[in-house]
Amino acid sequence: MLNKSRNILKISGILVLVSTSIFACKQRKQRKLKEKEAQKQDVIQEVKEAKDSTPSLFVIPKPDTTIAKIPINVLYVKSCGVCHEPYPKERYNAVSWGHILDSMQMRAHISDPNKADLYRFLTGDTLKLD
Ligand code: HEC
Repeated sequence: MLNKSRNILKISGILVLVSTSIFACKQRKQRKLKEKEAQKQDVIQEVKEAKDSTPSLFVIPKPDTTIAKIPINVLYVKSCGVCHEPYPKERYNAVSWGHILDSMQMRAHISDPNKADLYRFLTGDTLKLD
């Protein structure tokens, strides 16, 4: 009889220990989550403040921005003559200019229509855009 109640006492002691440790673990997790959330809010606040005080390098075009039209030879010199001399038209044939424009487009940051205009200017031919 005494043995039995001692066993019950042991088991309930273990149960209490287990449940308190589970509870403590849950609390620790929640605390950590709260800390993380607070850190996140701090970062968001920092970014917000930075944005408010530092001008952005990237200009978002407004819908009413008028598109400036420039002569094609000026576009050629402006966009293709900054890193190297603007190569003379005669130096390459139409097929080569096609490849060159494809590979230089990214470097020159020109649009597809600009590329087509340059192709026509350089080759006298029409570039098929796909
Ligand atoms: C950001 C710099 C940059 C811009 C802008 C640029 N290029 Fe180039 N270009 C280079 C470099 C670097 C090379 C040499 C290395 C290479 O061929 O990748 C080159 C090479 C060339 C060559 C020689 C290719 C060969 O095989 O001999 C041609 C022709 C040329 N570019 C045309 C153009 C045209 C046309 C444009 C405008 C659409 C342009 N580039 C804009 C950097 C530039």
